[in-house]
Amino acid sequence: MAIISSGGKASADPSSAGGAGLSPVAPVSARLVDPAPLDAADHPERVDGLRPRRLDDYIGQKDLKQVLGIAIEATRSRNEALDHVLLYGPPGLGKTTMALVLAEELGVRCRITSAPALERPRDIVGLLVNLQPRDVLFIDEIHRLNRVAEEILYPAMEDFRLDLTVGQGTTARTRSVPLVPFTLVGATTKAGSLSSPLRDRFGLIQRLEFYDLVDLQAIVERAAVLLGLDLRREAALEVARRCRGTPRIANRLLRRVRDVAWVRGGDGHGCIDGALVEEALQLHRVDGRGLDASDRRLLHLLLEQYGGGPVGLETLAAGLGEDAATLETVVEPFLLQMGFLQRTPRGRMVTEAGRAHMGWPGESGP
Ligand code: ADE
Repeated sequence: MAIISSGGKASADPSSAGGAGLSPVAPVSARLVDPAPLDAADHPERVDGLRPRRLDDYIGQKDLKQVLGIAIEATRSRNEALDHVLLYGPPGLGKTTMALVLAEELGVRCRITSAPALERPRDIVGLLVNLQPRDVLFIDEIHRLNRVAEEILYPAMEDFRLDLTVGQGTTARTRSVPLVPFTLVGATTKAGSLSSPLRDRFGLIQRLEFYDLVDLQAIVERAAVLLGLDLRREAALEVARRCRGTPRIANRLLRRVRDVAWVRGGDGHGCIDGALVEEALQLHRVDGRGLDASDRRLLHLLLEQYGGGPVGLETLAAGLGEDAATLETVVEPFLLQMGFLQRTPRGRMVTEAGRAHMGWPGESGP
């Protein structure tokens, strides 16, 4: 499988889209340009060696794996492109990884891009005309696609067809260009922000869940083997407890633990135990339940300045000097999941469990 991700530029063959000068609702002079031909084989820094490549190596997300496993098998036996897949859920749970796994299982290429990179019509057209039959096209943050790009995608997804406008004003004509069958895998942290016409064009819509401790421990142990670390089981469990239910964070914490082990042990080949994990994660201000400095700042602000809430998201964001969208999609989901924060119609509130975790007296006093 070749992985190709956004970055460089190369000219597409305009003839493959029916001739030079065609564009969807764009000036005739617009050429078809592929915005994303950056091959991961030439850019190993873009590929995370800890990612599982096959469905069997992918730990957790049991329901998702079951659904996709069946779809892959059926699709392969019919020799078709897999139906379009929408993956949604908090960041770091493995949406990109799953797109790569899908391509690997289907034996096709995966082209990776993200909606903000598809600003001009020719960006998405360039990607679509350069697909090979049954390729996976992965669009991250798909809720951020602009309206023109969305409208190009509708016939592309439904009928593997591009509707291009040739000419301008009174001479404008529409011309259809066939595309090869392909699979769009869209990823979003905000499924509710997707327009319903776009959402309705996905045949498989799947939510990724936070991982439980058993799966996280297995993910950490697998990563330790890949990194050549001698990690005790209790140490893997400690990393799992503190990674906010998120493999990406587990792997990041493990790398920080490896740094400390390296410095303490001299060669990095010493055994890593629970005490070393504790030391490394204290250094990075990750507490025993996985809350980091941003989480504690949010809870602290709510408790200290607003008596625990309720407080509106914008007010909180301004108080923390953070962007509201980051707070809502990155910081809050884990606090909600832990039961430390509540979203109410009047704003955000710290729960009793949140107060206790922060060592704050209960609402009815100590
Ligand atoms: N590394 C990151 N996510 C993983 C997963 N779900 N399974 C195995 N290894 C992983």
